[in-house]
Amino acid sequence: MGALKAVILVGGGGTRLHPLTYEIPKAMVPVLNRPFLEHTIAYLKNYKVKDIILALNYLPEVIQNYFGDGSNSGVPLNYAVEDNPLGTAGAVKNAERYLTSTFVVLNGDVFTDLDIADMVAFHRGKGAKATIGLTWVDDPCAFGVVETDSDGRVRRFIEKPSPAQVTTNWINAGVYLLEPEVLQHVPPNTHYMFEKGLFPLLLKLGEPVYGYPSNGYFLDMGTPGNYLRLNCDLLLLKAKSALVGSLSREGVGCDKEVIIHPSAEVVGPAVIGSKCRIDPKACIKGPVVIGSNCHIGEDANIEVAVLWRGVNIGAGVTLKQCILGTNTKIEDNEQVINAVVTSDKARVALIEGSYS
Ligand code: GTP
Repeated sequence: MGALKAVILVGGGGTRLHPLTYEIPKAMVPVLNRPFLEHTIAYLKNYKVKDIILALNYLPEVIQNYFGDGSNSGVPLNYAVEDNPLGTAGAVKNAERYLTSTFVVLNGDVFTDLDIADMVAFHRGKGAKATIGLTWVDDPCAFGVVETDSDGRVRRFIEKPSPAQVTTNWINAGVYLLEPEVLQHVPPNTHYMFEKGLFPLLLKLGEPVYGYPSNGYFLDMGTPGNYLRLNCDLLLLKAKSALVGSLSREGVGCDKEVIIHPSAEVVGPAVIGSKCRIDPKACIKGPVVIGSNCHIGEDANIEVAVLWRGVNIGAGVTLKQCILGTNTKIEDNEQVINAVVTSDKARVALIEGSYS
């Protein structure tokens, strides 16, 4: 595969992840204690992507300050910052100056292991101008469905079909391969979307648009339930990140200076960040992620949870299926079950699910 460039769409405030994303962009929420976007960059790096352009519009400086020119990530990074949200296709148009050959576009909230090299071979083999990665879902009614013919050529897009309209379970996975000339159809400095704008237009113009079906892992992590699920799936080895080394299903990965009292019990899979302290008789049962500088009080019980950094859990607390934002404090003997809680005491319910 020749060297590819990639655009990652890092827009929106991630409203569906509120209150976690009041202060940080969705792309920076920690997954196994590393910003989500770092996992995506590592994934693209594995496919020898030689240059990544981050299309940003919400708190861009947070992302630019963290990643800089990409030297720490091992891939050169460029930024295309929008004054106002330009939509998915408009944001890529805004990065057009960097795009002179076939390039890949990724929705910034998608975690996938789709085989980009194979998708590129498919795209070239078909002579496509645009290839849309497809993933199969049981119920496509909340998604953009993509109908293809037996050769994979796209026949029709149906946005959020009613059950009667469902003709296929393959949906748009938010991963595209595009030829730069398709951007001539995207108006500059105008809000314009791939799903409702460019792709239907290309079909109308008779351009070769193909769908590439993938059976790989796919998750839009932009809801609290899916965010928790992604952390759990990675710990349970149902998904693999190119960023983190080998995890083991029963393992407990501790960072530097973690103090676990000998009478506390930690059952993996779990990841514990640096400088955490776990008090006597606390019981942690994975999948669990604990950020750096957290304190877990005596007799606390934690099961299926993601704690960001600086979280303070009182004695006798029970946590189950929850996400706690940075510096959240939970008072002694409180129970937090199926919930997202942040330091300003914002609390939203997490839809019950099976995470382990
Ligand atoms: P948000 O919650 O607003 O991030 O979007 P969404 O999860 O509802 O997803 P949507 O289908 O609207 O967008 C798909 C991807 O494109 C997500 O990663 C968005 O963050 C990103 N995106 C959407 N609109 C824009 C935009 O105007 N500019 C940029 N740069 N990215 C965008």
